[in-house]
Amino acid sequence: MTKLSVNINKIATIRNARGGNMPDIVKAAIDCQNFGADGITVHPRPDQRHIRYNDVLKLKDVIFTEFNIEGNPQPDFIDLVLKTKPHQVTLVPDSVDAITSNAGWDTIKNKIFLTDVIKKFKDAGIRVSVFLDPVPEQVIAAKETGTDRIELYTENYAENFGLDRNKAIEDYVKTAEIASKIGLGVNAGHDLNLENLNFFYKNIQNLEEVSIGHALICDSLYYGLQNTIQMYKAKLK
Ligand code: PXP
Repeated sequence: MTKLSVNINKIATIRNARGGNMPDIVKAAIDCQNFGADGITVHPRPDQRHIRYNDVLKLKDVIFTEFNIEGNPQPDFIDLVLKTKPHQVTLVPDSVDAITSNAGWDTIKNKIFLTDVIKKFKDAGIRVSVFLDPVPEQVIAAKETGTDRIELYTENYAENFGLDRNKAIEDYVKTAEIASKIGLGVNAGHDLNLENLNFFYKNIQNLEEVSIGHALICDSLYYGLQNTIQMYKAKLK
């Protein structure tokens, strides 16, 4: 079964636009889970423009599925994750001013840094995933960092899906196969949506989890959150 982790950052973005507590992020997390989400993902960024650090601590108490925290492992982020102890941390090399994550790790260049950080999380009993472009050499180096999983960065797949879906997925299939062979779990995320999700799911063996935010929250404006979560779940069959 491939789990659907709903990224609720965008709900926090709406709340932050007005300064109050509407929509309530804690209620949204509870509702997403009751509506069928298999997990909740948050991506606190240093400027706290969507999910804030204190949201993360509050959310911990209401998540009864899987809690995944994504982000760049800078000191404040590491402290927050160690304090929160989610089920999974996904390490992303996003710069402070990035609008959204825009690249996977260079695990060859950053092997020492990642190995050191990953050990901290694993010693605390937290599963680790590293965000990665679909490049076979990067998966092999990722394995040497001690990570449990990789998260395939699917922006390129999504962008080229409409042109030639078979070509768009080629590198992902190869990379996922290598990951499975060397004992790494495979997650995926970024720009997955109702149109491109099922083809990705059908072609990637052992896809453990997808985390989806932007398109899912946009779709929920039209279909409602409960229906939308069910529609995404149906694409993972
Ligand atoms: N995975 C990572 C590492 C991300 O940074 C994001 C966006 O915050 C996602 C998945 C989800 O991407 P989207 O919002 O396009 O579904």
